[in-house]
Amino acid sequence: MDVKELYDLKIWFTNYVSTFNFSNPDLQQNINLKEEHTKQVCRNIILIGKQIGLNDDELRFAEILALFHDLGRFEQYSKYRTFMDSRSEDHALLGIKILEKHNVLRQFDDELKDLILSSIRYHNQSLLPQNAEKRHLFYIKLLRDADKLDILRIVVGYYSGSMGKKNDTISLEMPDTPGISQEVYKSLILGKTVNIKDVNNLNDLKLLQTGWVFDINFKPTMDYIKRQRSLERMQEVLPQSDEIKRIFNMVFAFETKN
Ligand SMILES: [Fe+2]
Repeated sequence: MDVKELYDLKIWFTNYVSTFNFSNPDLQQNINLKEEHTKQVCRNIILIGKQIGLNDDELRFAEILALFHDLGRFEQYSKYRTFMDSRSEDHALLGIKILEKHNVLRQFDDELKDLILSSIRYHNQSLLPQNAEKRHLFYIKLLRDADKLDILRIVVGYYSGSMGKKNDTISLEMPDTPGISQEVYKSLILGKTVNIKDVNNLNDLKLLQTGWVFDINFKPTMDYIKRQRSLERMQEVLPQSDEIKRIFNMVFAFETKN
């Protein structure tokens, strides 16, 4: 994998994304958001990858995973006007279909192609695959870290109002009602990630995203989360209840340890 090949794939991506354009700025904003997110995940995967010792070839390979991980988002949004997989379709599978349809990965041998597709396939699953081989598992973990790091940046910015107006697509159309769900509380207090099925309102969604720290795989990712102050900022946009304080004590203790 040389620099030129990566460059060509980036050009393909940019051309593909440019086919999605809406005259309505509210709709276009969500396409732009995913394009910018992709760029940021590319940057993140390189930052994290360098710190865990990947060589240049491995870094370029990792960048391809980041480049295509959310490819399905553009068609998903265009077709269904939502980023909720449960209300539309699995955006990872959709992205894989698009890569296959356009034969984008034709220069890779079967093994590398399989590695790229399985990383995309599992980037949005709640659990890591049980019997993936070591190299697959490594890249899946790396992609998930790079992705979560940027989603935290986006959502915390949104919740704290720096993005301006309300955007139901980011808040997954969750109602901004008081309180939190008990299942969400129970998971987090046990140091577990939250299941999306247990999320009933915006507070729950914020807590689900907070709980991603329990699913971070590499120390450098955790260091960047600390530097972004994502967790502190998340706490500021949640109610100051005793339950939430207890959750954050747990989360900060975990963050400090890792
Ligand atoms: Fe993503």
